[in-house]
Amino acid sequence: MCGIFGCLLSEGVVAPLIHEALLRLEYRGYDSVGIATVFDGGLFVKKDRGRIGVVHEELDLDDLPGSVGIGHTRWATHGAPTRENSHPHLDCSGRVAVVHNGIIDNFLDLKRELVDGGHVFSSLTDTEVVPHLIEDFLGRGLGFVESCRAAVRRLEGSFALAMVFSGEPGLVVCARNESPLVVGVSERAVYVSSDIPALLPLTSRVVYVENGEMVVLSGGRVVIRRLSDWGIVGRDFVDVSWTFEMAQKQGYPHFMLKEIYEQPLCLRNAVRLQDDYLDLLTRFLDRSKQIYLLACGTSYNACFAASYMFSSLCNLSTVPVIASEFIERYGEAVNIESTILAVSQSGETADVLHAIEYARFKAATILGLTNTIGSTLTRVSRAYLCQQSGPEIGVAASKTFSSQIMVLAQLALRLAKLRGKVSQAKIDELELKIEGIPGIVAEVLESQAEKVRLLVEKYRDRSCFFFLGRGISSATALEGRLKLLEISYIPSISYPAGESKHGAISLIDSGFPVIFVCPAGGSRRVLLGNIMELKARGAHVIAIVDEGDEEVKGLVDDFVCVPGGVPSLLSPIPYVVPLQLFAYYMAVSRGCDPDKPRNLAKSVTVL
Ligand code: AGP
Repeated sequence: MCGIFGCLLSEGVVAPLIHEALLRLEYRGYDSVGIATVFDGGLFVKKDRGRIGVVHEELDLDDLPGSVGIGHTRWATHGAPTRENSHPHLDCSGRVAVVHNGIIDNFLDLKRELVDGGHVFSSLTDTEVVPHLIEDFLGRGLGFVESCRAAVRRLEGSFALAMVFSGEPGLVVCARNESPLVVGVSERAVYVSSDIPALLPLTSRVVYVENGEMVVLSGGRVVIRRLSDWGIVGRDFVDVSWTFEMAQKQGYPHFMLKEIYEQPLCLRNAVRLQDDYLDLLTRFLDRSKQIYLLACGTSYNACFAASYMFSSLCNLSTVPVIASEFIERYGEAVNIESTILAVSQSGETADVLHAIEYARFKAATILGLTNTIGSTLTRVSRAYLCQQSGPEIGVAASKTFSSQIMVLAQLALRLAKLRGKVSQAKIDELELKIEGIPGIVAEVLESQAEKVRLLVEKYRDRSCFFFLGRGISSATALEGRLKLLEISYIPSISYPAGESKHGAISLIDSGFPVIFVCPAGGSRRVLLGNIMELKARGAHVIAIVDEGDEEVKGLVDDFVCVPGGVPSLLSPIPYVVPLQLFAYYMAVSRGCDPDKPRNLAKSVTVL
């Protein structure tokens, strides 16, 4: 997720205004920054790796001529944070500049076509295909707006784009598909931004751009057109009454709630991984004799879930291990035949990096899955994948957990395919189900959030909760427990349901709340027995359950539904959502700050 901004001033110098706007978008990404302005028939660009303040110190981002320009603050998804990979990106002639938020699925095909056509690329990003496409169409005699339209119609994937051309200086052209884009207008200027925060000090009059639309900003005018038939869209401007802080949260009261609701988009991005990287990691895994899934906290819970996937799909036993325990527990066993798949959203968790350093010393192969390109984990890994969730501001992980599961599921499926462990029919079915998961998560958010909030009102005074599941759902239960305890400070316990009768069940007395994660399939039948065992001892049972499961609904005190048809191996993704919401609403109802829980840091960089 990145932040883009564009502006066309009626008079004056636009660079300082863009610079300030990017600072207000920095929460969307901050590993590199750049600005391009158009003036006197030329294009002027300043960009580099680093946070805005640092780059400004070095380059003086305000010192660019002209009253028309675009800017970008980056969260890397394709290509490490370097000067070459920072936006804006230019065409060969240096007359077209483009900034982009999103992921272009077909960029490799487009890049091959453009390179074959003589274009020279200077970055590893997906974005850079856009200015070269525009240049191609300009070369065929189209005007700038028509060239932008023709270029954008070649793109597949998610994008919010802002584009300028020194040959037609009075224009900023924008386009949107999935990634957010909003236009603002004031007496002195027209603006385009990834979202509201950058606009607020400049104007409160905005209009939202929808998918498949292109916007032409010129001399105080805003024209929105459909990319498909070029028809003009008549949409009114609205007045936004958000405070700046609310705007950064896009109207949500907390970043955590915003990030819970961002999951459908993030999951779509997690499915847009580059095949080459997925295949590379799969080949490394395939030749491994022993695979350790190394992580902490929520990322460990994702690894725990992944161990069920690798076992079920690939007949491969992997060892999920808490990073701080790795050396003492497996240090003597690690050797050149070992592979460490380290999962870390921040890519900077000290426990993980310390364990990796030891494993590298023992000649193990290090692979990485992270949300932060350019992090230490990406530098110490032989190969890595980026989950493409965008910055997660809330200390408690939410969208990054579901995206990690989505990536790990794709890895397990590729490995199963490579090893011939599952039929093509099964592969096709699971790939179809994976594609449908973002929509299912959106449906859970849409239909169950209010029910979860009411459940919190009912159980808000309880002093302890059990989270139980069987099979892969024991990982989902672990994550639900971690969420509740870390943001609402309620002691919570999680066990594989079958294990609870070997001790923990002694805690159960009348009214004790137990949350069961109970998807269809898998080990649901035996889970029914566990539910009855606890009911018989007076527990109040809340089930996260398949919407069609009348049997479980009839057995429990309360339930929250998830749409049917979710394979149990993918169930942690939609089934964790009610647990995330439960933790969030419980924290708020208890007066806790879900974004900044006490004693915790977003990235634990100490051992
Ligand atoms: C998650 O809600 C916690 N804040 C924490 O457990 C976190 O998952 C853990 O510190 C690992 O972080 P990482 O994924 O950045 O390595």
